Amino acid sequence: MTFHDPETSPRRAARAEAERRATAAITLPDGGPDAVEPPSRRNLRADSGPRLRAIPLLLRRRIAVAAIALVVVASGAVAIGAAVASGQTPATEPQAAAAIAGPPAVPAEGLPVPVIAEAPAPKSPCDDPAFTSALASGDDGATIAAIGGGEAFRSAVASGIAPCVSLADATRQWVVVNKQRPYDPANYRPNDLVMPNGVRALEDSALRQRAADALSKLVQAAEDAGAGEIGYLSAFRSYETQQKTYAARVAVGGVAEADKESARAGFSEHQSGLAVDIVPCSRSCGTLDDVGGSTQGAWVRDHAWEYGFITRYEQGRIDVTGYEPEPWHLRYIGPELAKAYRDGGYTTLEEFFGLPAAPTY
Ligand code: DAL
Ligand code: ZN
Repeated sequence: MTFHDPETSPRRAARAEAERRATAAITLPDGGPDAVEPPSRRNLRADSGPRLRAIPLLLRRRIAVAAIALVVVASGAVAIGAAVASGQTPATEPQAAAAIAGPPAVPAEGLPVPVIAEAPAPKSPCDDPAFTSALASGDDGATIAAIGGGEAFRSAVASGIAPCVSLADATRQWVVVNKQRPYDPANYRPNDLVMPNGVRALEDSALRQRAADALSKLVQAAEDAGAGEIGYLSAFRSYETQQKTYAARVAVGGVAEADKESARAGFSEHQSGLAVDIVPCSRSCGTLDDVGGSTQGAWVRDHAWEYGFITRYEQGRIDVTGYEPEPWHLRYIGPELAKAYRDGGYTTLEEFFGLPAAPTY
């Protein structure tokens, strides 16, 4: 962008000359205060001298008024011209009107000249060898650390500057599975399923190693905090198991109702080995429906993020998730991302990663 220096402009010189001439017209000597006082409506009306003396004075005043009007218009035109020449946005209609009608004291050089700097393209973590090597190693925690933490990771992915990160990769803790995002292959099965230590399992249902370790810690912390025992029903469910689960739900209430509560095979978070349905226990354990009103459920709502879990299907978010609230369904996304999720006040993983809503198949 070129910078227009109004001080060296020929238009500036022309305007100065016009101003000089106008001033000369105003200061024609006539022996009274009118000779130096710029004319105004007030003192023109007040001129009530003898007719023979008044005629030349009035004439001089009209010349002076006409000269000032010329200078005012010229100043406005110079100001607008300077603005256009310097690359500024031309004045809007009210601004132009003000420039023409206002006093000739608005110098063209007084107009602000915007400095337009080109914004640098955001840096992609995919161009950072430290990030790409951590990503390639398969270590989710190290990958997130390499970019500067959970929020930095989320923000990079959501903004689209991290195309090397796939939210469809079921082996990563950031995978997003929903009604629009099935597994590929459909019968994906994780290879590090284990039973969590020290947790009452009501079914023979495992979790991926990291999620299992995190659940053990969460259950212990809840117990230590006096919130009571947390057990679980269902964790990993294979494609085939999910087929049966979904079919059983359809048999009870039909497809429309089933789709609000149970995922179709190939679309359930349980197939990732990163989701678990908890239940409150004392001597015996309650049901999924007991979680919401239990001390265990209250503790989990406040503290699950500290162990890397989020409540995946929250109240009032069926518009995005396609599911009724499930306070029992915890999804492991790792402590770094769970902290960013909680700190950011997110209530769906879709919004967290800037993905479209997925209320239906
Ligand atoms: N109940 C959840 C939505 C599932 O079936 O995965
Ligand atoms: Zn579940």
